[in-house]
Amino acid sequence: MHAVAATKGNRVSAAKPRREATSVPTFTHERARDARTDTAAPAAQTSADGARGAAISIRDVSKRYARGVSALESVSLDVRAGEFVSVLGPSGCGKSTLMLIVAGLLSCSSGSVTVNGETVEKPLTDVGIVFQDDLLLEFRTTLDNVALQCEVRGMRKSEARRKAAQALDRMGLSSAARRYPHELSGGMRQRASLARAFIHEPSTLLMDEPFGALDAITRIRMQGELERLWLDGQRKTILFITHGVEEAVRLSDRVVVLSPSPGRIAAEFTIDAPRPRPIVIEDNETLTRYSREIYALFDRLGVFED
Ligand SMILES: Nc1ncnc2c1ncn2[C@@H]1O[C@H](COP(=O)(O)OP(=O)(O)OP(=O)(O)O)[C@@H](O)[C@H]1O
Ligand SMILES: [Mg+2]
Repeated sequence: MHAVAATKGNRVSAAKPRREATSVPTFTHERARDARTDTAAPAAQTSADGARGAAISIRDVSKRYARGVSALESVSLDVRAGEFVSVLGPSGCGKSTLMLIVAGLLSCSSGSVTVNGETVEKPLTDVGIVFQDDLLLEFRTTLDNVALQCEVRGMRKSEARRKAAQALDRMGLSSAARRYPHELSGGMRQRASLARAFIHEPSTLLMDEPFGALDAITRIRMQGELERLWLDGQRKTILFITHGVEEAVRLSDRVVVLSPSPGRIAAEFTIDAPRPRPIVIEDNETLTRYSREIYALFDRLGVFED
């Protein structure tokens, strides 16, 4: 495993202990279980995950944009089939960049990515993608926006519409099928974009802050819906990008924390808590403990400083 710095280096104030790490700290299943009965914080361990069998394997990925902006440095991460992994980090730390690289929509400067055993070299078509903006086409109805995903994969229009109607129904959006995106609320638009990502039943979902623009109540409802969808049937592999600590803890099997820009993996937390998880994580001592740990890590990384 490559070495990473767990602090923001020269931006850590003298009052805070500078924490050097030679490997990505991971907070394991066993330790998480201990944490429920112990008051001690989970201890750091080295990740034992290997690339073998991973549905998504990100190997030593760095990205440097034009004008020398370094967005990601040596990011390595494996996501197992059926695992729900969140990538959590402050604004500008490279989360969207990472997702675009995994989706094959952006090339990395160095490193490699495989998804379901295939090296990513061009845009992936067999994954569901939910972007930070819902990206609905304003000139198509909600139904036709969702159906488009099937049409571009060669399905007959009538069959695509039938499937789209089912997908909207699952999202509680049947009544909005014939409305245009501008006639929908923010939450409805995001649910439509979820329906669009799910409709072709991909085994892998890439989600970039899908609930970031929603009001707090709608966001909590949508998190519950996503967890329900994920728990129903065959579990999809989900790479979920967020800057919300509570959202990541509530939804994930594992939370991977990126350092401020350029994004490096600062730590991983395995969230060992039963599902479905409570609506408000403050109701659950284990989840609250993870959340506190992550905020403490953010503090050490200098995330709250100017
Ligand atoms: N096309 C681009 N050209 C140059 N720099 C870019 C480009 N896209 C992103 N960046 C820069 O790369 C860094 C990471 O951006 P990115 O959008 O991946 O961050 P993010 O973690 O998704 O942020 P946010 O939480 O605000 O969405 C930032 O410094 C950003 O300014
Ligand atoms: Mg982003």
